[in-house]
Amino acid sequence: MSLAQRRILLGVSGGIAAYKSCELVRRLRDLDADVRVVMTESATHFVSATTFQALSGQSVRVSLWDAQAEAAMGHIELARWAERILIAPASADILARLAHGLADDLLTTLCLASAAPLYVAPAMNQQMWAHASVQTNVETLRQRGVHLLGPASGDQACGDVGNGRMLEAHELRDALAASFGDGSLAGLKVIVSAGPTYEDIDPVRFIGNRSSGRMGFAVAQAAALAGAQVTLVAGPVSLATPAGVTQRIDVRSAAQMHAEVLAAAAQADIYIAAAAVGDFRPNEVSAHKLKKTCDGAGLSLQLSENPDILASLSAQPTHPFLVGFAAETQDVASYAKQKLSRKGLDMIAANQVGEGLGFEAADNALSVYWADGSIDLPRVAKAELARQLITQVAQRYRASRAG
Ligand code: PMT
Repeated sequence: MSLAQRRILLGVSGGIAAYKSCELVRRLRDLDADVRVVMTESATHFVSATTFQALSGQSVRVSLWDAQAEAAMGHIELARWAERILIAPASADILARLAHGLADDLLTTLCLASAAPLYVAPAMNQQMWAHASVQTNVETLRQRGVHLLGPASGDQACGDVGNGRMLEAHELRDALAASFGDGSLAGLKVIVSAGPTYEDIDPVRFIGNRSSGRMGFAVAQAAALAGAQVTLVAGPVSLATPAGVTQRIDVRSAAQMHAEVLAAAAQADIYIAAAAVGDFRPNEVSAHKLKKTCDGAGLSLQLSENPDILASLSAQPTHPFLVGFAAETQDVASYAKQKLSRKGLDMIAANQVGEGLGFEAADNALSVYWADGSIDLPRVAKAELARQLITQVAQRYRASRAG
């Protein structure tokens, strides 16, 4: 991973997590990034500008009213210079000022004046983070395409435990490095399916599964970062559309996912099936809520098999490069290899699922198989795992087209 010659503008706002940003400058410099630091006035109460100056090797700016720097419109020059702006820590105050488009200090002015993608790493007390005002501001920023990095959950400097911890320096650095992508899927159209499907029983009940959509959303983001034009077909999940994804299609049932994926596949080069598609659906969906009989007789549901999306595609004479997932609780390798050949796939990414594994978790591990090879991708955050998977997919896809 390299950030050589990448121009990163690090904004530091007022919060105790500012001390972690000193480490962040070091980590960015480890990857040869060119880092300029801009602090808010409040930030200087936590860490001095001299510290950041020494770590970045560049002068640090705090005020918009620096006569010398502004003689040549310094803030505009800095806004144009930046390839990425990362604000870490991002306090509740700066999130609010960004959400409302204020330009009342150098850092917020730069954010408005720059075309560079903006990344924010929130850090605050868990009660503040949960506050409706903060959440509304964050949502506004997200919808405008601002990239949210964290926060993480855990012990806080104030003694509380909960959401609001700033991500660690290496996580922020890796996210920035990954944001430049490697262009390995440039010019390609990729469909990614993600999340569960819900098969309705009646107006209040359904058959679902534990997929959160996190793995599939991470894959969609990684494919977008690698330069692909990405269509994300998502089951019912509560996740924001990852930055860079071209189109998101929300579905509920396996039949809807089947229809949407097949429609999009005609134009696609690659289909990555990370969704946990329901294998069965009730034969009939009751128009009204099924009532308890209280006679101890129980209830039997007649289920029919859903069509297999991957198998339907591979049966077509021309179809995208097919990457399946396999979620297994045992004999992962052998079941995955069986699915690879039974469904006619080009690759399959297998994961062990169970308590705290695969489903819902923030991290995951995959074993990836193709006709004449395999690779183990050890347990790591889903975003990073997705990036590694996309590297493999890009290599196998190019090899298949070259041969
Ligand atoms: O969403 P998360 O909480 O992050 O969890 C991630 C995950 C565990 C759901 C993900 O990593 C994963 O393994 N997804 C595939 C889950 C699954 O349904 O596996 P499967 O072994 O039942 O299906 C094999 C493949 O066939 C999958 O690619 C699936 O999308 C596809 N399939 C299944 C049924 C069907 N009717 N049509 C299909 O195309």
